[in-house]
Amino acid sequence: MVSQSEIQKRRTFAIISHPDAGKTTLTEKFLLFGGAIQTAGAVKNNKIKKTATSDFMEIEKQRGISVATSVMGFEYNGVKINLLDTPGHKDFAEDTYRTLTAVDSVILVVDCVKGVEEQTERLMGVCRMRNTPVIVFVNKMDRPGKDPFDLMDELEEKLNIRVRPLSWPINGGPDFKGVYNIYRNNLNLFNANKTSIERDIVSISDLQDPQVDSILGRDAAKIREDVELVEGVYDTFNKEAYRKGEVAPVFFGSALNNFGVQEILDTFLEIAPSPLPRKTSERMVSPEENAFSGFVFKIHANLDPKHRDRIAFLRICSGVFERNKFYQHVRLGRTFRFTNPTSFMAQEKSIIDSAYPGDVIGLYDTGNFKIGDTLTEGESFMYQGIPSFSPEIFREVVNADPMKSKQLEKGINQLTDEGVAQLFTKQPGNRKIIGTVGELQFDVIKYRLQHEYGASCTFHAMPLYKACWITSENKTEFENFLRQKGNHIAYDKDGLPVYLAETKGMLDIMIRHYPDIDFSFMSEHN
Ligand code: G4P
Repeated sequence: MVSQSEIQKRRTFAIISHPDAGKTTLTEKFLLFGGAIQTAGAVKNNKIKKTATSDFMEIEKQRGISVATSVMGFEYNGVKINLLDTPGHKDFAEDTYRTLTAVDSVILVVDCVKGVEEQTERLMGVCRMRNTPVIVFVNKMDRPGKDPFDLMDELEEKLNIRVRPLSWPINGGPDFKGVYNIYRNNLNLFNANKTSIERDIVSISDLQDPQVDSILGRDAAKIREDVELVEGVYDTFNKEAYRKGEVAPVFFGSALNNFGVQEILDTFLEIAPSPLPRKTSERMVSPEENAFSGFVFKIHANLDPKHRDRIAFLRICSGVFERNKFYQHVRLGRTFRFTNPTSFMAQEKSIIDSAYPGDVIGLYDTGNFKIGDTLTEGESFMYQGIPSFSPEIFREVVNADPMKSKQLEKGINQLTDEGVAQLFTKQPGNRKIIGTVGELQFDVIKYRLQHEYGASCTFHAMPLYKACWITSENKTEFENFLRQKGNHIAYDKDGLPVYLAETKGMLDIMIRHYPDIDFSFMSEHN
């Protein structure tokens, strides 16, 4: 039986940011606090510096690093923290979106110089869809950045969420003196310190305390004024509103200088939710339930080319997962047991005997899993809300070696199960169209088809704007549409119809002409 304390002590989250805002640096500092690593520089950045014309070794390296750092588990102050890594490169954004379905909350890193960037907006959009609680860390305060009040307005406007500063900076850039921690009522003084985890905190009774004048001198008046304004403008922090994803608390600091990191980590542990009930196709499932259940949100090819097996990452949602016990694979209607389930503590993989709600484990898979699959102790339900987004680049697959058609078919099927790209089939002729969010995936697919499946193909560009999933309550109109627009209809891997729009203009016309048909840029697995 799963004990309440095992659930309460877990925090499963992700750090998200636009590339270069400081996600890797913050992750590393968290791991230092957790004692999971001893020195700075131990966490590899999973960024791919190159873009479309990629170097395959770089891709391989990326894949290797991302498997090693996919989940970082560590203990801190009696709490089991599961930090799920998200790829930095925008071509792998879908992977990030899916990882966000497996977390209970998120820390968003924003660069104080650049403010809210494109990728930040998109990632936040996914969090908003699921009302995931978000804490914002405004990073790089040692650099001259935007005015903090302007930045707060920008966050609210572009991220479509209310914010509530829980700390406030005393100057910025070269004059950065530290922060006043509104939540704990103390002054945290900045002392550039890149590797150790010492800190310089002064407890004060309130901001009127004469100590503030003696420490900050002329800056004392400014911080008093700023904080008065903050208190006037923003509602009192409400933990429940944060947990419902309605308000995002904000902290300021400098990850590189290890400043403000412990502050955000301590507050995170205090306010962030432990594993919550989750929606399935049948009912809400609570983590306290005795029966085990979980879902696969990521699949990773094994790096060893001699072994074709893959690792499926399973988020445990209820009950206790046990090694060697038979579980129901709901989609296939078969039972499986796992002899070598692995957990990820820091960068070490180890075989585990049991795991609890909030944990993420790796299951060796020979091709039975796809993203969104649910495992249970027998009940038939599927976890919901694992999104597929309309791809942006489309290419038709053309077999370059007719002797290897079977291998090509299998390879394409398995790689798209992994979520590397999406597969659409178009009639007549069973034409296979691959859709991705970035050019890089086509290189990855070609390379892996050749090296792992011995198949080769070429891609023919298809000038499409979007693939929209279509649904309608109006059966007659829907059937008419499918018939009349047959040339522009394809089916995804779940057999759901999509409309292939050549241009935005064309799509707008369709939306106007067929009011009873719903065109969506997103579909949920299952
Ligand atoms: P990412 O994972 O979000 O892509 O960002 P990452 O942590 O790699 O940080 C991007 C760059 O920003 C790095 O510099 C990093 O050292 C720097 N950085 C992170 N936090 C701070 C901060 O608080 N202040 C300042 N001034 N810089 C910060 P880089 O030169 O691109 O990489 P590296 O060669 O130093 O590793």
